Amino acid sequence: LLKHALKPTLTVAVSGAAGQIAQHLLFMLASGGCFGMDQPIAFRLLASRQESLAPLEGMAMELEDSLYPLLRKVEIGNEPLTMFRDADWAVLLGAVPRAAGTERAHLLDINGQIYQEQGRALNEVASRDCKVLVVGNPCNTNALICMENAPRLQRRNFHALMRLDENRARCQLAHKAQRFYTAITNLCVWGNHSTTQVPDFLNAHIGGEPAMEVVQDEQWFRHDFTPTVAGRGGEIASRLERSPAASTAVAVADAVKSLVEPTAEGECFSSAVCTDGNPYGIREGLICSMPCWSQGEGRYHVCDDFAIDDWLREKILESEDELIRERECVSHLLPNAEPAAC
Ligand code: LMR
Repeated sequence: LLKHALKPTLTVAVSGAAGQIAQHLLFMLASGGCFGMDQPIAFRLLASRQESLAPLEGMAMELEDSLYPLLRKVEIGNEPLTMFRDADWAVLLGAVPRAAGTERAHLLDINGQIYQEQGRALNEVASRDCKVLVVGNPCNTNALICMENAPRLQRRNFHALMRLDENRARCQLAHKAQRFYTAITNLCVWGNHSTTQVPDFLNAHIGGEPAMEVVQDEQWFRHDFTPTVAGRGGEIASRLERSPAASTAVAVADAVKSLVEPTAEGECFSSAVCTDGNPYGIREGLICSMPCWSQGEGRYHVCDDFAIDDWLREKILESEDELIRERECVSHLLPNAEPAAC
């Protein structure tokens, strides 16, 4: 008898696969730590058409040499229609990075075009139940463009990465409370993956007690916590002289695992998902982070029991407004959208 009966092989497509995040992420995914120790996977690694395939060949050779028992196949290429065929998961890391002096609208447009093409390709060739996690920035709006260009896929299966923000918030709160991060539960970062993000200290618990009762420092919560969390990526980037890649890869792995495994009672995770039918009155048709729980195998629900006070509502609204403005800037990339001024 087999000790673990193995599931059918899962096809995992990764774009931006020659980049720095992928150098960490692919090895975490291949090890079985995210999809499960009974889940064989096949990688489809996508580079952009401008890139040479040589770095991807190198990556595939390193993966082969690592002898992961669950990694059954590695294919490489730079054609989305080929690499997304039958994908069960698409982890989209690829994006043109923001260069000094780049206008946000310009970045929205150039990256939006990549996500328009990738959404169309997923629509044509991916599994209908494909789960899509967008990491390339601006990730919420890129995920929106991808979703709107892939009507054959389920809207609820599109995510933009907010787990990095949640992990950063958890780290800061643990430091402040002088507790290990596992003491922190019910922590959500709402909104956009940008400076308008809303780390929610109102609903967070430390050791089962409301965070604001454990750490009695309202000034810190209201004035220091959010900018520290939202500015963390920039602080790291200024020291490394590049975007943080390793902690981003860890957050992607955490996000996948949280969707694949059933969420424990009383826990939640942050993910930017489609706001259609959300219980918090956030404008529909956006990709906005909210607290979620999973019943396993990628089937998640938005938690409906978070308390929203006036302060939190106002902050979430600011982030929601920013998402609406971003959507207007990319209306030319959204099928069926009215043209809007940007
Ligand atoms: C981060 O939050 O660290 C990244 O999203 C920053 C970036 O633009 O790559």
